This record gives sequence, C-alpha cells and structure tokens, in this order.
Amino acid sequence: MTTDNIFWDWIAGRYAKQAVADEASYKKKLAISQQYFDADSRVLEFGCGTGSTAIHHAPVVGHIHATDISSKMLAIAKTKAGAAELNNISFEQTGLKDLNSSNESWDAVLGMSILHLVANKDSEIERAFELLKPGGVFISSTPCIGDSGLGFRLLAPIFRWIPLLPTISVFSQQELITSLQSAGFHIEHSGQPGGDMVAFIVARKLNRASPINH
Ligand SMILES: C[S@@+](CC[C@H](N)C(=O)[O-])C[C@H]1O[C@@H](n2cnc3c(N)ncnc32)[C@H](O)[C@@H]1O
Repeated sequence: MTTDNIFWDWIAGRYAKQAVADEASYKKKLAISQQYFDADSRVLEFGCGTGSTAIHHAPVVGHIHATDISSKMLAIAKTKAGAAELNNISFEQTGLKDLNSSNESWDAVLGMSILHLVANKDSEIERAFELLKPGGVFISSTPCIGDSGLGFRLLAPIFRWIPLLPTISVFSQQELITSLQSAGFHIEHSGQPGGDMVAFIVARKLNRASPINH
C-alpha cells in the first residue's frame, strides 16, 4: 500500500461529508462535460473519489467505469450508486496506468481534481490519450498550484517530505496545456469557471488525418 492509498483511505469518510467548495462552478463543469456525451458514450473516470461525478453523468451515458486507488473512497461510491439504483456504473480499484483496458476503447476520460495529485501528470495524460478512441475527449479539472500565490507554491513541494501527506504536483495552467498538446491532444475548451486557479479543460484526440493524396 502506498502513502497515497493510506492518506486517501484515511480521509474518505470526511471527504464524503464535505460540501462541494463551489457548487456553481461544479454544476457548470458537469453541464459542459455532458455536451460531449451521448446515450452510447463509454466513459472512464480516474480518481473518481466518492463517485459524485460518475453518478451525475450515469443517466446520460451508455456506461461509466469509475476508478480510484482508494478502496474506502470506492466503497462509499458503490453505496451511493446502489442507493441511486444506477446499473450502468462499474467500479475498480486501480490507477490509470495499471488499468487493464484495450487502447482506443473509450469515448471520454474524466480526471476531476486528480492531475495535481499524481507524481507524473505527463504519463497519466499519455495513458488517457492511448485509452481514448480517435475523436474522444479527455475532460479534466485541475488546481494549477503554479498559478497560485508564492506561499502555496513554496509550501506544496515541502508536502512531499512530510510523511503520510499525499503527492501534490505544482504546475501552471499553461504547463498543463502544453503537456496535453505534447501528448497529441487538441484543446477544445479551457477556462476557469470558478475564476480561480482551477483549470477546466476539454482536450480532444483528433481523428487520424486522412492520407494526403499527391
Ligand atoms: C481530491 S479527490 C477528487 C475526487 C473526485 N474526482 C472529485 O472531484 O470529487 C482525489 C481522488 O483521487 C484519488 N487518487 C489519488 N491519487 C491517485 C492516483 N494516482 N490514481 C488514481 N486515483 C488517485 C484519491 O483516492 C481521491 O479519491
């Protein structure tokens, strides 16, 4: 078990009871995301936490597979999905890189409040790219600590050295966009619905270009 597993298991119960910090911008992100789904969409979420986003989207997609490294987060998510009587959500305890899935098999990958919590955002983004069908979208919402005040920017790396605190990575929205573009994504939408350092980005894996005939 990693330090991250231990931390997120430990905090899961409290996380589930917390109100969403900014309800209006959360709803805006949900609404924008749903513009990219249809009734046949196969959606993969990583870092799903207690499942609120997956449960919200389930009624408008074909299937949503919600994954997380924390068994305690997933246990809460499963209880909530059961109470909502949803039968098109599946759950799995895994990170994105370890997910056993064929490439090019998902219409959308969701990563909400997760890319700043992994050690290497670039490899997660590259994996999301591989997993998406051509034409699919990677939808992410990410606190870009690199765009915050100096105090927090300096504090975040110190967290790494404090036992039992989770991984926190510091990068700016521009660095995140550059990573997405380097992986091959086209940025279709980017903004800060909360007016803060949280970047909400829809990045598309373009269909392969048709061969050019000379
Ligand atoms: C801040 S919470 C966000 C949960 C949910 N996406 C939301 O928006 O409410 C971060 C979640 O990511 C999970 N997590 C942390 N590191 C992870 C990793 N490397 N891979 C997958 N999930 C991870 C944690 O267990 C936790 O449930």
